[in-house]
Amino acid sequence: MTKASLKIVRTVADLRSVAGEWKSQSLRSTLVPTMGALHKGHLEIVRMAKTLAERTIVSIFVNPTQFNNPNDLANYPRTLDADWRMLEEAGVDLLFAPRQHEMYPEDFTTKITVSKVSEGLCGAFRPGHFEGVATVVAKLFNQSQADFAVLGEKDYQQLHVVRRMTRDLDIPIEIVAHPTVREADGLAMSSRNARLTSQERLLAPELARQLNIAAAAIGQGTPAQDIYHAAHKALLAVGFSSVEYFELRAERDLMPLQSLSEPARLLTAANLGRVRLIDNLPVAK
Ligand code: PAJ
Repeated sequence: MTKASLKIVRTVADLRSVAGEWKSQSLRSTLVPTMGALHKGHLEIVRMAKTLAERTIVSIFVNPTQFNNPNDLANYPRTLDADWRMLEEAGVDLLFAPRQHEMYPEDFTTKITVSKVSEGLCGAFRPGHFEGVATVVAKLFNQSQADFAVLGEKDYQQLHVVRRMTRDLDIPIEIVAHPTVREADGLAMSSRNARLTSQERLLAPELARQLNIAAAAIGQGTPAQDIYHAAHKALLAVGFSSVEYFELRAERDLMPLQSLSEPARLLTAANLGRVRLIDNLPVAK
C-alpha cells in the first residue's frame, strides 16, 4: 500500500477549506505550531498530537514579529523540504506553511500583549518577543480552528503566555503540554543547537546539568540566591559567555519564589558563542 503524500497548504483559505471538511465529518484536529527546522523533539510532540484527535496539522512559519534580533531571524535555519519529509513519515495529515504576506499583509496592525507572565525571564531580554508569539499563535488557532494544540515545556514561559492568551480571549482550543525532549547527554533539543560549533556542543549540556544540581540543592533547602550565584559561576567557568537569568518561579503563575512553598520550576537562559540556549526543570520538594 502506498502512503498518501502529505498535503501542504500555503493560504488561510486552503487551510480553512480542509479544516471545514474535517469539521463537517465530525473529525477533531490537533495543531502543532512550529518554526520548522524540525528535530526529534518536534516529532515527539507530533506523536502526542496524533493521540489527541483524528487529524493532525503542523504549521511551519518563521515568525518575524517574535525575533527581537534581526541576525537571529536571518540565521534561523530553514529546511522546509527535509521538514516535509519528516512530517510525512510521521503521518501528519496537513502541513500549513504560509508565506510572510499571508500572515502579515502590509496593513497588518494588531498586537496581542499578555502582561505579567510575559514579563521577566525571556521577556526581559527579548523585548516584544512574547507579543509576537501571542499574536501569531492566536492567528494560527483561529485559522486552523483546531480542537487541541500541543506546545513544548522546553519554552516554558511561552507555554504560560499561550495558555493565558487562549483563556483571556476565549479561544476554544485545549492546550496540551509536552515535556522537554533531551539529547542523550541532557541538552534540550532545539533548532538552534545546529548552530553550535562542535566544541560548544560538548559544553552545552552543562546548562541542564546546572539545573539538575540547583534543583537538588533547592529541594534540600539551600537558599535560592546562593544557588543562582553558584550556577552563574559554574556556567561562565566552563565557557558560557553570559547567563541572562537562572531563577525559581511558581509553576502556577510564573511569579518569583524564594523557596519551595508551591510547585516550582527553575528556568534559565544563557549564551554559548553565538547561540542563546534556554532550559527549565521542575523542582520537587
Ligand atoms: P519552535 O521553536 O519551532 O517550537 C515549536 C514547538 O516545539 C514549541 O511548542 C516548542 O516548545 C516545542 N519544542 C521545541 N523543542 C522542544 C523540546 N526539546 N522538547 C519539547 N518541546 C520542544 O516555539 C516556537 O517554535 C514558536 O515560538 C511558535 C510557538 C511556533 C510561534 O511562532
